[in-house]
Amino acid sequence: MNKHDTSIALATVHTSTRHDSAPKHVSGSAEYIDDMIEPAGTMHAYLALSTKPHAEIVSIDYAAVKASPGVIGVLTAEDIPGENDVSPSHKHDEPIFAIGKVHFWGQPLFAVVAETRDQARRAAHLAKVEYRDLEFVTSVRDAQAAGGKLVTEPLKLERGDVAAGMASASRRVKGSIEIGGQDHFYLEGQIAMAIPGEDEDVTVFASTQHPSEVQLMVAAVLAIRQHAVTVQIRRMGGGFGGKETQGNLFAAVAALAAKKWNRACKIRPDRDDDMTATGKRHDFVVDYDVGYDDSGKIHAVDAVYGARAGFSSDLSGPVTDRALFHADNAYWYPAVRVRSQPLYTNTVSNTAFRGFGGPQGMMAAERWIEDIAYDLGRDPLDIRKANFYGTTTDNVTPYHQTVGDNIIHRIVDELETSADYQARRKAVLAFNAENAILKKGIALTPVKFGISFTATWYNQAGALVHVYKDGSIHLSHGGTEMGQGLYIKVAQVVADAFGVGLDVVKIMATTTGKVPNTSATAASSGSDLNGMAAYDAARQIKERLTAHAAKLYECSEAEVVWVPGGIEAKGKFVGFAELAASGYMNRVQLSAAGFYQTPTIHWDRATGRGHPFYYFAYGASVTEVTIDTLTGEYTVDRVDVLHDVGRSLNPAIDIGQIEGGFVQGMGWLTTEELVWDAKGQLRTKAPSTYKIPLASDVPPIFNVKLAEWSVNAEPTIGRSKAVGEPPFMLAMSVVEALSMAVASVADYKIAPRLNTPVTPERVLMGCERLKREARG
Ligand code: MTE
Ligand code: MOS
Repeated sequence: MNKHDTSIALATVHTSTRHDSAPKHVSGSAEYIDDMIEPAGTMHAYLALSTKPHAEIVSIDYAAVKASPGVIGVLTAEDIPGENDVSPSHKHDEPIFAIGKVHFWGQPLFAVVAETRDQARRAAHLAKVEYRDLEFVTSVRDAQAAGGKLVTEPLKLERGDVAAGMASASRRVKGSIEIGGQDHFYLEGQIAMAIPGEDEDVTVFASTQHPSEVQLMVAAVLAIRQHAVTVQIRRMGGGFGGKETQGNLFAAVAALAAKKWNRACKIRPDRDDDMTATGKRHDFVVDYDVGYDDSGKIHAVDAVYGARAGFSSDLSGPVTDRALFHADNAYWYPAVRVRSQPLYTNTVSNTAFRGFGGPQGMMAAERWIEDIAYDLGRDPLDIRKANFYGTTTDNVTPYHQTVGDNIIHRIVDELETSADYQARRKAVLAFNAENAILKKGIALTPVKFGISFTATWYNQAGALVHVYKDGSIHLSHGGTEMGQGLYIKVAQVVADAFGVGLDVVKIMATTTGKVPNTSATAASSGSDLNGMAAYDAARQIKERLTAHAAKLYECSEAEVVWVPGGIEAKGKFVGFAELAASGYMNRVQLSAAGFYQTPTIHWDRATGRGHPFYYFAYGASVTEVTIDTLTGEYTVDRVDVLHDVGRSLNPAIDIGQIEGGFVQGMGWLTTEELVWDAKGQLRTKAPSTYKIPLASDVPPIFNVKLAEWSVNAEPTIGRSKAVGEPPFMLAMSVVEALSMAVASVADYKIAPRLNTPVTPERVLMGCERLKREARG
């Protein structure tokens, strides 16, 4: 078999196989960490959080905490044998427990360890903490006004002559857009359970997208080597980027307690503490200056992307980098200069969240497209099309990568037709002309999303496949399952590689002891990377079995043909189990470690040039809404999506990702609002004050289709494309449709410039402002 042949065409790949855990998810029998049987004597830890956004810690009196029922002890910075740090950037700027100062409201001060979770939770509030207040900033604008201290080095992308581009443009628009953050609201909150072993050993069950990093952190915190730490995770109840780095803290605390008292320890914060103490999506303020001409074509873009990074670097550098990588969305800018500004603020340190800054970058692009459309009195869709990347020219990104796989024209054309966009837009305009109070809007927005980690070394993966004597298969790889269906996709790949049914393949929990040095399951590349690594492992075992069969059945290797269920050697069928058994008896190694590294990519951050993305995923959506101009309330009436996943590994899973991504994106852009009060405290920290979409918020008409003709031009696993994040940004059409509905109150002559989330309040205020301005 050719090592590079990934055109798998057997039974299960490319079919809508259901999620391996679907029956368990719906029946409640899927085991999450909190469901695991606790070892005898398991202790429970709880974090005590600061109640000041920025202050010196004058003193902490633990007397009442220690005297509280069931308390075993208190963990402070002094109990840490190694480093008091869980910063994924390794900048040593994220202490487990604050020392000397606190930098945000909700920063962990210490942990209480008790016999029961409830005892630990109650005792955590009993410390007497004396603070000396310091000045603080919570918002992007405040941080900019206070001097714009950054948590990490900014990035600049530049191509073409911006000054000349602006000079050549007959029209110019300057503005800014505020884009809100988002809480991950994973249904399973942060959790970790650590079990001490002999010598330095510790096993940590952690709800994490990044077991290898948790392993590294725990080792550094305990001042032991990585080989003593095993991190395992069977599944998360959602991660969405919120468990890429944010699980480090909880795993470290559980491990510290487990080793200190030589008893197992579990830690699980309440939802409000989870929301207060863990990072979220960055809110951005983008200040832009765009030159364009009478036809709506953009000549030059100059923009600064201020982001609320929080008190430490975490992933704010890479997240704001990705905002710049998507400052273009699907549009060609003849001249462009974009700069990131990851601002230090006295808020929780913001982190990865589905799209990783890309959504914010793209939302800003859609804003100036809209500005141009309202200025010229045109349908924004015409402006979008006028600025799409070309397929052979006008196709170089701000980071100097040529877009070589552009299919946005076909995606948009097909969707425009299938969603009946033109006729429906006419109907919307007619409806608005006839109705004074209710107004409708419709919009079509594109998505182009770059696939690969921009940290190039992350684009590698390993897998471990064992074949047992009875022909059953044990599958491990470095990816983690958070509901997205990675495990089933990789199992499909392995089942097909061996030509066996899925029941033959046992999907194992992810553990650092099986596959080392893994990357976070993130950047949507889980199946691209781990699918290929598992395929590589299967290939090696098959090659050995092929050679073995040739010897055993006295034929050439070419005469050994893999068929469903086994092989044919010289025309004789041998079942896979029989082959495995005879392989064992003849001392054939039936286990292999597979490996994969993404080819062709490179990136030089210092010069802002390279080829950071292996390929692009594309999509588009049309949304129609109705608003009430007297109250601002609205409904999302219909959504049509056409999305590109290349040759889908599993259409059912992919459609689920698209639907879920869209709805989560819609929540971000419409109802999910984070509010910090004047004292620096996050007030929206529970479902009562923070509104995520419900099942009833799913659009009543929701047509989701895959671009079935799309095949990845690159030799990815089965020629598929990544699907985890790109559909999230399809929700931008909701904002644009709301914008059109608001614009109707001033006869579409004024750009509404709605900030996000576009809450009913913002719709109402937008209508009021436009009515006022229209009256003059
Ligand atoms: N889908 C579910 N159900 N739950 C999740 O937590 N995370 C998203 C996406 N889809 C997520 C999800 C994010 S942020 C990413 S990066 C990808 O899944 C990660 O998985 P993949 O690389 O296997 O697509
Ligand atoms: Mo996803 S934000 O890359 O975990």
